[in-house]
Amino acid sequence: MSSMKLCVSLDLPSAKENLVLVEQIKDFDVWLKVGFRSYIRDGKPFLEELKKINPNFKIFLDLKLYDIPNTMADAAQEIAQFGLVDMFNLHASAGKRAMSEVMTRIKDIPNKPLVIAVTALTSFDNDEFKHIYNEDIQTKATKLAVDTYTSGVDGVVCSAFESMDIKNNTSKEFITLCPGIRPFGEDAGDQKRVADINFSKENLVDFIVVGRPIYKASNPKEIVKKIVESI
Ligand code: C5P
Repeated sequence: MSSMKLCVSLDLPSAKENLVLVEQIKDFDVWLKVGFRSYIRDGKPFLEELKKINPNFKIFLDLKLYDIPNTMADAAQEIAQFGLVDMFNLHASAGKRAMSEVMTRIKDIPNKPLVIAVTALTSFDNDEFKHIYNEDIQTKATKLAVDTYTSGVDGVVCSAFESMDIKNNTSKEFITLCPGIRPFGEDAGDQKRVADINFSKENLVDFIVVGRPIYKASNPKEIVKKIVESI
């Protein structure tokens, strides 16, 4: 049996629309991803609303922290102390010292969240990436994943196409969370390389992140049910 989990992106334009979606899927064992837009607009009270709908929902706060080590650790501590967030993320390119400091700072907080790191943003093409990092994406992404692992962080955000390689270079237990998923081959939208559920399973992906195929469906509950059953 696979232990893959579904993480539903709450990317609708208002809190109200996101909450309507969440109401529809409240009986499923899923994670909810709250990103920049929602969090900047609706803040911590929005997270409380989600937990009110179903306290068993797990929340992934996708704020991709990037700053000097002390500032990142301060922010991480605040997030962990909410007691509402089950996972949040950082940029691996903030460096090993920043990542270690975050992990040290939160280590004794009860029910501390899982922490994962972004290696390379998938919006970069190789030329854009090289302009900043002087290295090819693939090579650098694996190096950053290894840095993340050795800093004691729990996992990475990556594409399903990199999941296996990253696990082979770190550990099978090292978490991979993968967006760009079209569970049953739905329309890719602006995503370039998309993977379905079977491919994700074969590549040992721990979390699939799904947005549009769920919230744009005429019956989001049906599609969530279908995904949860097939993982
Ligand atoms: O609608 P779709 O399923 O493509 O949504 C994917 C979600 O994952 C969006 O919230 C998007 O911002 C996010 N994401 C991504 N690629 C990354 C990191 C996050 O698509 N590398």
